[in-house]
Amino acid sequence: DSIKVFAPATVANVSCGFDVLGFAVDNPGDEVLLRLSDKKGVRITSITGDDGRLPKDAEKNTVSISILRYLETLGIEQGIEIELTKKMPLGSGLGSSAASTVAGVYAINQLLGNKMEVKDLLPFAMEGEFLACGSAHADNVAPCLYGGFVLVRSYDPLDVVKLPVPANLYATIIHPHVEVQTKDARNILPKQIALSQAVAQWGNVGGLVAGLLMNDTSLIGRSMQDHIVEPARSVLIPGFDDVKKAALDAGALGCSISGSGPSIFALSTSQEAAQKIGQAMKKGFDAINIGSDVYVSTV
Ligand code: HSE
Repeated sequence: DSIKVFAPATVANVSCGFDVLGFAVDNPGDEVLLRLSDKKGVRITSITGDDGRLPKDAEKNTVSISILRYLETLGIEQGIEIELTKKMPLGSGLGSSAASTVAGVYAINQLLGNKMEVKDLLPFAMEGEFLACGSAHADNVAPCLYGGFVLVRSYDPLDVVKLPVPANLYATIIHPHVEVQTKDARNILPKQIALSQAVAQWGNVGGLVAGLLMNDTSLIGRSMQDHIVEPARSVLIPGFDDVKKAALDAGALGCSISGSGPSIFALSTSQEAAQKIGQAMKKGFDAINIGSDVYVSTV
């Protein structure tokens, strides 16, 4: 009558694919323990790793909101206790809110005997994102829930496609110790773009997807360009240009902001390269006295 679930960090946007592309990594991630309870209602009994910053009110926390909506939808009145262990930083661009909300809804579905198919859990997880930042984007929650690399082909109707990934694709993620709220990072984006910018962007999204399907890492690298969102947001990340250049000089296929930042990710074709790129990026932040953590993962 209890279950523990791990949900991984995710890299959303993947440069050119704002709100439509994302992939899951091996680490870090969040852990959620759910327990059936005789006491009515959904209660968060403990949260660790958040420095006391997350709300314990079940209506206000992303880990519980997806559980509440799931139970409401199925008309189930079951008492639930939640223990949340945050193992990744808030406001980091690593899909922290997404990991908690996905872990919650995945856990409740398992605990109650898989009443829904995994794909039908996605809208509940998107409610968690809406609560966290005022937008129900799926490019963190979908890869978190499905694993691997996903394309959100359409939001209405929701159409999520899981993409294959070349076996030798590695991600380096660096999290500099500054905070960016997704809400703020969305507010500074242009509301309109020129047709020529749209052409460049969908060319790159198509190229990136084709590169994944064709195992063509050079095409993946060429397609990792974002002339719309990255220039608007990179001003929020001290040292961005230098750190990106360091990653590319160290052999990265491409490099951009992870989700809404401040984390930055780079792709490469070996674990050694991914580690070397991480060291080079870290030096870039060291140079401006910003501490950082590096994660290396398969894609
Ligand atoms: N696609 C979202 C954004 C991801 O860039 O705002 C947020 O993590």
